[in-house]
Amino acid sequence: MNNFDFKNPTKIIFGKDSIEKIENEIPKDAKVLLLFGGGSIKKNGIYNQVKTALSKVNVIEFGGIPANPEYAVLMDALKVIKEEKITYLLAVGGGSVIDGTKFLSAAAVFNGETPWDILTQNIRTEKGMPFGTVLTLPATGSEMNSGAVITRRETKEKLAMGGPGLFPEFSILDPLVITSIPKRQLANGLADAFTHVLEQYMTYPTGALLQDRFAESILQTLIEVAPKIINNPTDYKAASNFMWSCTMALNGLIQKGVPTDWAVHAIGHELTALFGIDHARTLAVIAPSHYTFNFESKKEKLAQYGERVWNITEGTIDDKANAAIEKTVAFFHELGIDTKLSDYTKDYEGTAELISKRFTDRGWLGLGEHQNLSPEKVEEIVKMAY
Ligand code: NZQ
Ligand code: ZN
Repeated sequence: MNNFDFKNPTKIIFGKDSIEKIENEIPKDAKVLLLFGGGSIKKNGIYNQVKTALSKVNVIEFGGIPANPEYAVLMDALKVIKEEKITYLLAVGGGSVIDGTKFLSAAAVFNGETPWDILTQNIRTEKGMPFGTVLTLPATGSEMNSGAVITRRETKEKLAMGGPGLFPEFSILDPLVITSIPKRQLANGLADAFTHVLEQYMTYPTGALLQDRFAESILQTLIEVAPKIINNPTDYKAASNFMWSCTMALNGLIQKGVPTDWAVHAIGHELTALFGIDHARTLAVIAPSHYTFNFESKKEKLAQYGERVWNITEGTIDDKANAAIEKTVAFFHELGIDTKLSDYTKDYEGTAELISKRFTDRGWLGLGEHQNLSPEKVEEIVKMAY
């Protein structure tokens, strides 16, 4: 096991009807900016619950943060923060609203030339404006981590940011919010969380027995609850297990002491930036090709995953590893998620070369757990995913 530090300061308030507890978490004298997305919270009653919980607090609202939070929209929110002298941010939404809020937390205290530098120059935020979240869509884990991904349509870019100052102070996780989520987004949440675990697990063995079993147990739980959630989002037992699994998949715990990959996400973000494909679906497109391309260096973990998660008992390590990739593809298909780029766009020719060039220009010359996935290799992986 590798050496590690671990600190996660986010307070989780989990369970039925927990939205009313926001009141205890926000300082009484705060001036709050309530941030939300395209309006789903006004239809499903979450907005009313939040407003009731905040009835004694000074609150201003900013809605309209789109999926894949857009820089230009966030810059409008930043103006409101400055003009209204906001002191506390509250995100009510999925990964997009929470990530947008993290960007604002960083940008509100940023002294550089333009907040876009935070993304292009990898500026880490040591201390941002304090914020909390009410999670409405289990998927990203953003509610309990310090990372964010921001999109800029103007340049078709999607870049990550983060830093120890960007953990939410608290996150409310009420599994009842799941009842109003459309099937497509439920499937996305399951596939995203599943791939988060794979990114931190599908590398090479390091004797980290507990981390491996944490990862495998999250994968097994997601597989078990997936059909239940998709067919009946009012199944509270399934909903609560789904929600907690998504948070645990990316709150930092399972990646401690082990190598991590994250190439699937790096490549996937380009597909969202170029074609607007849902984040989770880009992962389902790239992951199978990535694991096939890097078969030799990942086959021991692929086989272990095949044995322990999919109960594949027959054959050699190579057989089990291959069968594990097939099972993964079948799982995405069962969720209704297509796994080839050509399923999403007819305009895919040249995509591999373009992504490879972008990575070269950014100096991303070695992705993956061995830092040896060159832009040329990325190009081949994307071509395999056509
Ligand atoms: O805009 P609203 O009205 O909120 O509707 C949203 C949106 O249309 C809707 N929705 C959310 N909760 C709902 C609901 N509809 C009905 N009932 C509810 N309770 O779902 C749609 C998608 O929302 P979004 O927030 O975009 O989805 P998700 O949570 O999957 O977030 C995706 C974003 O997070 C980033 C992705 O790249 C993408 O930009 N990620 C963030 C990560 C992180 N911070 O750690 C890690 C991830 O790998 C990922 O990259
Ligand atoms: Zn993801």
